[in-house]
Amino acid sequence: MDYKRYLITAALPYANGPVHIGHLAGCYLPADIYARYQRAQKRDVKFVCGSDEHGVPITIRAMKEGITPQDVVDKYNTIIKDSFAAMGISFDIYSRTSNAIHHDTSQAFFTKLFNDGVFEERESEQYYDASKDIFLADRYILGTCPVCGNENAYGDQCERCGSTLSPEQLLNPRSALSSAVPIKKKTKHWYFPLDKYEPWLKEWIVDGKKDSWKPNVYGQCKSWLDSGLQPRAMTRDSNWGVPVPLADAKGKVLYVWFDAPIGYISATKELTNQWSDYWCKEDTKLVHFIGKDNIVFHCIIFPAMLKAHGGFVLPDNVPANEFLNIEGEKVSTSRNWAVWVNEYITDFPDQQDTLRYVLCSNAPETKDNDFTWKDFQDRTNNELVSIFGNFINRTFVLMHKLCNGKVPPVKDELINDADRQLAEEIKNAKTKVENCLENYKFRDGLFEVIDLARKGNKYLQDNAPWSLSKTPEIQLLNQGRIDICLHLCLQLTANLSILINPFLPFTAGKMIKMMKVVDRILDWENAGKINLLKIGYSLRAPELLFRKIEDTEVAEQVEKLRNNLKQATSQKMEQNTPPVAAEAAPQPKPEEALAAPAQKPEITIDDFSKMDLRVGTILKAEKVEKADKLLKLELDMGNEIRTVVSGIALHFKPEEIIGKQVTVVANLAPRKMRGIESRGMILMAQNGDGRLIFVSPLEVADNGSEVR
Ligand code: MF3
Ligand code: ZN
Repeated sequence: MDYKRYLITAALPYANGPVHIGHLAGCYLPADIYARYQRAQKRDVKFVCGSDEHGVPITIRAMKEGITPQDVVDKYNTIIKDSFAAMGISFDIYSRTSNAIHHDTSQAFFTKLFNDGVFEERESEQYYDASKDIFLADRYILGTCPVCGNENAYGDQCERCGSTLSPEQLLNPRSALSSAVPIKKKTKHWYFPLDKYEPWLKEWIVDGKKDSWKPNVYGQCKSWLDSGLQPRAMTRDSNWGVPVPLADAKGKVLYVWFDAPIGYISATKELTNQWSDYWCKEDTKLVHFIGKDNIVFHCIIFPAMLKAHGGFVLPDNVPANEFLNIEGEKVSTSRNWAVWVNEYITDFPDQQDTLRYVLCSNAPETKDNDFTWKDFQDRTNNELVSIFGNFINRTFVLMHKLCNGKVPPVKDELINDADRQLAEEIKNAKTKVENCLENYKFRDGLFEVIDLARKGNKYLQDNAPWSLSKTPEIQLLNQGRIDICLHLCLQLTANLSILINPFLPFTAGKMIKMMKVVDRILDWENAGKINLLKIGYSLRAPELLFRKIEDTEVAEQVEKLRNNLKQATSQKMEQNTPPVAAEAAPQPKPEEALAAPAQKPEITIDDFSKMDLRVGTILKAEKVEKADKLLKLELDMGNEIRTVVSGIALHFKPEEIIGKQVTVVANLAPRKMRGIESRGMILMAQNGDGRLIFVSPLEVADNGSEVR
């Protein structure tokens, strides 16, 4: 298909906190690179984003801080918007979902579906905190886990043993917002029948997108579709959000995942009167950039909504990235384990491209990746400064020294094979980078640009114009070769500015200033040409493009991370409330880890001696069917073989735990789980990052030996 327009969206960030570098790496930076590249190709591009200002987490944050939800979103919308602007994320519009135009647009969307009879109306009983006058999502109900006794289990999941729960199963349920006991209350909601769209989605995605969508995206969609879709409520009981536009819907708002993606449409409306060209004409290429936790919403729910509404284009691609960990650990906003973009900008003023470089060259495109400050330093110093910056600096210094600061002439008869080869490389680089960018392979694209600079360095080294000019006499003899060499290096510099521009726009800006040329040189069609700078044209002195990162800066940043963590953890111990989790994906996923739980009430030695703890060895381990968290273990307990069902399947593969010695609570009352009788429980330690670790004897002990 020959596309006439590019509509590029980046996930609307929740306005309940600042953005961190994981957000940049996962979504906003690739989206920006893509948008800048398409603009350089002179394509008609609209790049839209904005703040996602509704949803439960925002109301909870407001409640905790004793301010209004509007205060919360006003504060973070500004911080987020400024962070993006500072980092050069070139949205054509950064809007917000609390704007009137968005309320109107999402209500009209809902009304159309309602009038077309799309929704199913259902009444159900839901948990309600009467003291706060608020319905509670499962996440906001806490209680004791019936499986392992954890007193801070969530209504949808116990993080200690991994069991999937429903609020009914919790012992002593309490509201996470007050300590009130939740009561049940009847409520009516409007459900979108995703199940009815399943056949169409299968055809569109499974048959149609297999080759074009990234394997991680396609795979997630396929497993959703294989496990069957359910109708999903598109309204919620809340006083914060877009009011449901029906007479009998007082106190109800649109589900945040219903209104937020419509935010892309509202933002486009706000941007241009021609918005419907971008949303409704088939020759628009719609591309959603997101992080992997947003896949189901952008690939299944929103497309089904668009389809049900009718008249809209569907996404051509949804290039979702995986997550970026920090110093080996998962990002956790509640534990303040993150590198915040606004703080980076304060700590490293004018080093935006350095961060853009590191995040792109280490982007989690196919798997989760790790950001470390040491790696930030290494990539900056060894690649950006030593290869790219160095080539351009040497070229400019030598040109000023040996060619009077002017683009030198070329004598055809002096051109050799190495020159021709470099010219060829310059031409090829354009196609290579282009292929990468068209296919959302941003890391590879950036690598190609750096590789071209590396070739420039080698060419300069091989020609060594400095050794051709040791004395004025020698220079006179060699001036022809010196000129060709620097002429080519300058043309290469011009090419590098074009190729690097989508990735490092601040750098490209400095480069065109040094070359005294206009922006237009950065048009993509100019890449590959070796006549971009005219012979005899005089150029400015070189400007420092990047600087090295010092060891002390690395140490300071690592220290800052650790301090933030310490502070956040001690605050949380005081409050002892669960983190404000974001509106979770429909199928539960492991959420952020909690800080070390507070100590339990004192017990006597007699209490302790009631427990029969023993060592056992795992002989067999297998997955329990239809329970993604459970493993069925067979344990050698010395005088018997026991079956224990354990909620550790998300943490370990069956084959990797066979032969491990573990500690077993041997006299725990037997329990049936998924039809299997479990006799005992194995002890696990849990790290701050949520990782589980076996509590095992340090040396091999006899199976069945007592632990006291
Ligand atoms: N606010 C969501 C998040 O941060 C993303 C919303 S994307 C949109 O995960 F499409 F719904 F806007
Ligand atoms: Zn549990």
